[in-house]
Amino acid sequence: MNIQKRLLAVCFIVASITAQAQKAASKLYHEPYRLQAHFSPKEKWTNDPNGMVYYKGTYHLFFQHYPKASVWGPMHWGHAVSKDLIHWKQMPIALYPDKLGYIFSGSVVVDENNTSGFGTKDKPAMVAIFTHHNPKGEKANTSAFQNQSLAYSLNEGVTWVKYLGNPVLKNPGIKDFRDPKVFWYAKDKKWVMSLATKDRITFYSSPNLKDWKKESDFGQMLGAHGGVWECPDLFPLKLNGKEYWVLLVSINPGGPNKGSATQYFVGHFDGKNFTPSSNQTKWIDYGPDDYAGVTFGNTGNRKVFLGWMGNWMYANEVPTVKWRNAMTIPRELSLKLAAGDIYLASTPVKELNKIATQTLDVDALQLAKNNNIFSVIKQTPTQYVLKFNTAAVKDYAVVLSNAYGEKLVVGYDAANSRYYIDRTKAGQSAFNKQFAAIAYVPRVSLLPTSNFELLVDVSSVELFADGGLSTLTGIYFPKKPYTSLGIINNGMEIEKLQIQPLKSIW
Ligand code: FRU
Repeated sequence: MNIQKRLLAVCFIVASITAQAQKAASKLYHEPYRLQAHFSPKEKWTNDPNGMVYYKGTYHLFFQHYPKASVWGPMHWGHAVSKDLIHWKQMPIALYPDKLGYIFSGSVVVDENNTSGFGTKDKPAMVAIFTHHNPKGEKANTSAFQNQSLAYSLNEGVTWVKYLGNPVLKNPGIKDFRDPKVFWYAKDKKWVMSLATKDRITFYSSPNLKDWKKESDFGQMLGAHGGVWECPDLFPLKLNGKEYWVLLVSINPGGPNKGSATQYFVGHFDGKNFTPSSNQTKWIDYGPDDYAGVTFGNTGNRKVFLGWMGNWMYANEVPTVKWRNAMTIPRELSLKLAAGDIYLASTPVKELNKIATQTLDVDALQLAKNNNIFSVIKQTPTQYVLKFNTAAVKDYAVVLSNAYGEKLVVGYDAANSRYYIDRTKAGQSAFNKQFAAIAYVPRVSLLPTSNFELLVDVSSVELFADGGLSTLTGIYFPKKPYTSLGIINNGMEIEKLQIQPLKSIW
């Protein structure tokens, strides 16, 4: 097909996707700003993803949820399941607050060896380890109002029973004592818990998930400390056949673009202590809207990360009504060598291809002649992937805009070797004065060429540059959807440009 025909074909696909979208405009999951390629709760509030685990062919995603309002409140664990990490089905609420408190963040493991005695070896229990947050204790200004508790499920996560011996890990007097992430450390045949304890991570171990012993503390003098440490995750990843351990630590506030963000450390873990191999502070995603992310358990060597697409600076105020906040696209994590150090790279999981429709490949010669490549597409889809390669020597930018003069710009600033998302003119921002800002991520790669991959959804954009070495996530709220897509290439050759419209997951 020549380029005109291809463009026509894409216009046709785009027009029919747009028509479908318009028809469904007010229906559930198709309200204004509702993301079409990302999980968000059917209605009401969400923040952190919790208890993510793969079991018997199903991915489970639990999430911090307040089912009575679209603002943060007494926390429950909502629940959703997926066969492919992309299409999600919301299930009944898994955990309700009780007399020990709200149900804060935590993790789920499959107790294959029945160490807890909650199941049997033939029918192992799924066990949730979460923080009980006692609001009365908090109000009374005590310090021991966050404790770790258990619940288990014998029917693959559909219903849950809280353990009568809760809490299993009592607070020693630390105000911020939460977000347990547990995994089976096979070498020593024990469970290991990473717990956020104010300004550090404390590691505990247990033979049975009920009795916990403190092993060590990490990080009081390392990394970023602009806010409280939350939501840790510790897991191994290989680089060139050698095993490393990665520790994720979310912090709020104090992120590189203000507010909430997630830093990470690469190093070694011996079952007791975590030792980082570099003292540099690194961030899994520099954007303002990727927080409290952790990885799915039980996925073997594959590590899939998912974060909350929000920021505590304004999460309670973003202009959605029926529901509030969503999750990032699930991301495959890998370690990469760049600029003489080891970095964590993230890219969208390959399962995203399941919803990709016909790809438009744009001719390199055609692109070279043009500075505003996609003005030819009359109407862009509401969700799509855009990819291209280019030299990293001059500025370039992708501009999404609408007829109201609103625009979102994602680009590269060559003079400062950094990528950015500029949402200063992207749409609504009066709900919070911190919202309209430019977020930057340094370019880590030293290669002369770069690749640029954008995942655009109705009200979110995720940038994965240089194979995911530089990542930025941001949400935005235009008055009307963006309908045009331009690329400013400053005369530079843009190669292998593809645009892939995505089908809605709902
Ligand atoms: C992170 C966090 C966690 C806590 C949860 C409460 O966003 O503050 O530390 O468990 O949210 O909803």
